[in-house]
Amino acid sequence: MNRYQGRVVAITGAAQGLGLAMAIRFAAEGATVALADVNEQVLTDAAGTVAESHARLRTDVVDVTDSGQVGAWIDRVTAELGRLDVLVNNAGIIRDNRVEDITDDDWHAVIDVSLTGGFHCARAAFGPMKRQGYGRIVSFASMSWRGNFGQTNYVAAKAGIVGMTRTLALEGARDGITANAIAPGLIDTPMLASMNGSARDKLTNKVPMRRTGRPEDIAEAAAFLASEPAGYITGVVLDVDGGISIGSSIR
Ligand SMILES: NC(=O)c1ccc[n+]([C@@H]2O[C@H](COP(=O)([O-])OP(=O)(O)OC[C@H]3O[C@@H](n4cnc5c(N)ncnc54)[C@H](O)[C@@H]3O)[C@@H](O)[C@H]2O)c1
Repeated sequence: MNRYQGRVVAITGAAQGLGLAMAIRFAAEGATVALADVNEQVLTDAAGTVAESHARLRTDVVDVTDSGQVGAWIDRVTAELGRLDVLVNNAGIIRDNRVEDITDDDWHAVIDVSLTGGFHCARAAFGPMKRQGYGRIVSFASMSWRGNFGQTNYVAAKAGIVGMTRTLALEGARDGITANAIAPGLIDTPMLASMNGSARDKLTNKVPMRRTGRPEDIAEAAAFLASEPAGYITGVVLDVDGGISIGSSIR
């Protein structure tokens, strides 16, 4: 498929995990991809992987918590690649703990990357998307957005992403801009690998499909939501989680 021929897709947190899988997928479908990440070394390696498909790509070291860096990045992408069709707000971190043990730093770090970072990028992207009369914003929530033990900071950030997405959908609706969120379950990435092993096994056993997801499962959802034909879908949260968010799975 060449659904993304002529389209420019900007992805944050693109150096590994879901961001990298999406970069590979969008590039495979013809997109020019703009990859941003705070980790320069891993981003360079990722660019090498994406370049193997002969994709047009650029990389920028960007910390999404810094609105100045984000604004300059979006300006460079639109100036040098000519347009900005898709923004994928993917960068996120976890600093899990019970509420009484979450430090100020753990709180702010998670909110700053996952929520404020997404806001910085959406705000910067809105201008060029409005001028084009076309845009797709896909932001990353999590199955945790409904509440999850030991993740007050992360849940607050991800629930914030849902609220932000629904509001962006309203504000973009008359300008051809859609905004949707993906709520992944347990997906095999370095983030999941960083979780405590026994907690991860317990959670995996709660997945009705009894397995974790692949980054490609998420890339599939993103490539659909960000596509031109999906233009009447806006403000939704798409669960991609093997059924875990359905609830009780006794078997
Ligand atoms: N993997 C899962 O099971 C899972 C489940 C639910 C939601 N998510 C969400 O999906 C998104 C991607 O997760 P992942 O598993 O690929 O994570 P990951 O940790 O493997 O990758 C995240 C990337 O974001 C980058 N990043 C971190 N801080 C940044 C910053 N300030 N500016 C720019 N880039 C930054 C990291 O360098 C890294 O490359 C996150 O928003 C995460 O919360 C993941």
